[in-house]
Amino acid sequence: MGDGVRGRTVVIAGATSASGHAAARALVDAGATVIALGRRDDALAPLRELGARTAVCDLADAGEVSAFAATLTAGRTRVDGLLHLVGGWRGGGGLPGQSDEDYRALEVGLAALRHITRALWHELTSSPAARTAIVSSTAVARPLAGGANYAAVKAAEEAWARAMAQGFAKDARDRGVAQTAASVIFRVRALEGLEEELARAFVGLWDAEACVANDTIVGLGASN
Ligand SMILES: NC(=O)c1ccc[n+]([C@@H]2O[C@H](COP(=O)([O-])OP(=O)(O)OC[C@H]3O[C@@H](n4cnc5c(N)ncnc54)[C@H](OP(=O)(O)O)[C@@H]3O)[C@@H](O)[C@H]2O)c1
Repeated sequence: MGDGVRGRTVVIAGATSASGHAAARALVDAGATVIALGRRDDALAPLRELGARTAVCDLADAGEVSAFAATLTAGRTRVDGLLHLVGGWRGGGGLPGQSDEDYRALEVGLAALRHITRALWHELTSSPAARTAIVSSTAVARPLAGGANYAAVKAAEEAWARAMAQGFAKDARDRGVAQTAASVIFRVRALEGLEEELARAFVGLWDAEACVANDTIVGLGASN
């Protein structure tokens, strides 16, 4: 498991949480080059110790994301994968408790996903084996009033990931070549304790055919 990712270059967007560390470790161990993105250089230091390259980038800022992508182009660094982790959780208080402030904070995850996937689209569709993944929530399938903001944003992220899946398939069709890129959605109820499972599942995506993995929803933990 994991041989397919050897030699690939993978961006982890929002890499500074426990799940980002686990994914970076698994990717490096499997022979991939990792580029870990985060807002603060000090928070990225442990990723460097794991063997990842790092870059400071506020993924909520489209200009910063474009500038990051331009450094890759300038350095002729190709990209074969993206694990999008910017998210977080806010909620409670039933439906009346779904504040605009919480919604705006959660929406950063969607904005970050839009920015980084637009910026890396050319690299991903040019890669001989690209895999992208987001981490969504079981709340999309079963939204609760106290988590309505969260479920709405996660549903929007899933729609974006599925649109990417269609885009990958269409790009291959239009060019008359076999599909090499896949967009996958992981769904989890609570991530704590499942970081290694997420990391293994992400690394394993390179062992599946792109057209089989593309546009799939993979449950993690008890949601599997
Ligand atoms: N935790 C759970 O139980 C759970 C359940 C279901 C789904 N999920 C989803 O799983 C994913 C990963 O969750 P997680 O708990 O590991 O991570 P997270 O805390 O939601 O976010 C990952 C990292 O993103 C960074 N980040 C936030 N805003 C950023 C920005 N504008 N630019 C760059 N980096 C930014 C954060 O670092 P700093 O804030 O330190 O900069 C954080 O370490 C998220 O999408 C989350 O919604 C989580």
